[in-house]
This record gives sequence, C-alpha cells and structure tokens, in this order.
Amino acid sequence: METALDSGRDSTSGGTSNAEKFHKPVLLVETINWIKPRGDGFYLDGTVGSGGHSKLLLDTCETCRVIAVDRDPQALSMAKTALGSYRDRISFVHARFDQVLDHFSLQGPLSGAFLDLGVSSRQLDDDARGFTFRKNVNLDMRMDCANSELPTAAQILNGASEEELEKIFRNYGEEPKARKLAHGIVSRRQNNPFLTSDDLVAILYKTFKKIPRNKEKARIFQALRISINDELGCLSRGLERIRMDLDSGASFVVITYHSLEDRIVKRSFREWSQSCICPPKIPVCSCRGKALGHVPLARGVRPSSDEIQQNSRARSARLRIWRKA
Ligand SMILES: C[S@@+](CC[C@H](N)C(=O)[O-])C[C@H]1O[C@@H](n2cnc3c(N)ncnc32)[C@H](O)[C@@H]1O
Repeated sequence: METALDSGRDSTSGGTSNAEKFHKPVLLVETINWIKPRGDGFYLDGTVGSGGHSKLLLDTCETCRVIAVDRDPQALSMAKTALGSYRDRISFVHARFDQVLDHFSLQGPLSGAFLDLGVSSRQLDDDARGFTFRKNVNLDMRMDCANSELPTAAQILNGASEEELEKIFRNYGEEPKARKLAHGIVSRRQNNPFLTSDDLVAILYKTFKKIPRNKEKARIFQALRISINDELGCLSRGLERIRMDLDSGASFVVITYHSLEDRIVKRSFREWSQSCICPPKIPVCSCRGKALGHVPLARGVRPSSDEIQQNSRARSARLRIWRKA
C-alpha cells in the first residue's frame, strides 16, 4: 500500500544520471487524451514546469491556446525557452495556480485545465534549490525562489516554535516521532543553527537512534517543503477557483504524487459530483440540489509498468479527472 508520503518525486540522496537531469513528463499521453483539446479551445496548464504537457497539447490541436503558469520563475523561464516557438498560442504567467485566474483576464471560459503537482526533476536535481537531502545542500526549498518574503527551510528550522515544527512533521510527514524530532531541533539550534541538509540529517540520526533510511529522510524533507510552499492550501483553493472558470463539458485533470494531495483531489471531485451535499438529517434539500459535473473514471489512472520502468519518478503518480456538467 502507498504510504501517505510515498512520493516518486521525493528528494533523492544519490547522484542522478544525465537522462534524469531532464524532466520526463508523467502520464503525458493520458493527460492530453482526457483533456481532448479541440477547436480554438483555451486551456490552463497550472504547473507548466519544463512544458512537456503543454507541448503535447499544442501539437495535438494546432488551433488551441494555453495559459502556462508556474510559481517558480526559473521553471517558467525554461518553459519559455522550450515553448517560445508557439508564439501567440501560449501566454506565460508567473503565479500560483490558485491565484492566477484572479489576475489574468480570460477571453472566455476555459476549455480544460490540468495540474501536475509537486516539484520537477530539474528542481530536485538542482542542489542550489535546496529540495534534496544530498550532502551539504543549503536548506532552501522555496518554489518561488525570487520571493524573499517566503521563509526558507533553514529559517523555519531555526525560527518556528517546537509546536509548529511538531505539527509540520506530524501532519505533512506522518512522522510518529514528530514531537521528539521537534524537541531535538529546538535544543540543537540554540548553539548550532541549521544551515545545510547535513544538519537536518544529523538530527534525524539522533532522534531515530540509527542511520535514517532514505525513505525516512525523504518524508521529513518533503514535510518541510509542503509546509513552506503551503502546497495543500494552494491545492484546495486552486481546485475551487479553477473549477469556477471551466466551460461546460471541460475536463479538469490533476496528477498527484502522494496520498495527502490525492485525498484532497478525490474528495473535491467527489463532492462536486454529488447532487445533494446537505447534512444527512436535513429533511428538505437546501443546497445547490444538482451535481456540478461527474468523475468519468472512479479510480483515476496509474502509470503503466513500462512508464515506471523508464521513469522511476512516475511510480507514485495518480491522475484524476473531473468533467464539468
Ligand atoms: C511536476 S512539475 C510539472 C512538470 C510539467 N508538467 C512538465 O511537463 O514539465 C510541477 C511544477 O509545478 C510548479 N508548481 C507547484 N505548485 C505550484 C503552484 N501552486 N502554482 C504554480 N506552480 C506550481 C513547480 O514549480 C513545478 O515547476
């Protein structure tokens, strides 16, 4: 069974092969097949990254257009290089997907939208971004690396209260020793502030009283990343906001990489597909009284074993689809 934070994109300790230095889009064909781009449709790619999904969409339908969004300015600039030749068929926006539609004036409803969550291989493989537990990496982890108002991982470890740290490791890392770990961090930082991945790994060693396994390190590093970037909050708000701008019949496709994300997507899609959302004991329905759309494939789509063999980062991916009524 998948653990809550069993993520194919977890931070990785080892070196990476050249092939892995480039991001391979996950569930690429499946995403575009479910989006079914057509006509002069206008589509939202809320997590453009290196642009793999947008590229296939633009190639599949030569009259379609895309709004390509990323909160990471470096990722967006790479997407511009990769997709610049599509010229006026693509607009690039540096924003979070939960906020972009409040600022970007759409010419009409969206014909479809997709999100491919988490971080890309490029971000994970770049030590300067600080997402990894490889040796001697600065603890940063901000997706929007140009935003100096966002705290870095080091600032959180050196400044958050013991209770806040415990909550991060318990809620986002499902770490049974969250309290002990938080206590260890607070005791250490008074004389020895956290700067690099080695400092955090050393505290894990002390807390677990054994050399932490990569899976354990990944869980803790990922919990910090989720918290710093408010990933689950962005997802909940983003799903609602994007749904509002979808056209009738439009598909909304989301690829998740761990069960905390997947649960949010599954629950939202299920709730939007119910005709009545009144509490059970209400005698007369007083809610919207109709489904907003439906889920065409209850369990979603998992990558094939071939895809996982070629791209280990796909192993925990799950794609879910919702179609607006
Ligand atoms: C898995 S990668 C996407 C890869 C992309 N589909 C491709 O084919 O190259 C996820 C991207 O989403 C961005 N991202 C994550 N959360 C975001 C958010 N809330 N708003 C905007 N971009 C986000 C990350 O910076 C990263 O570049």
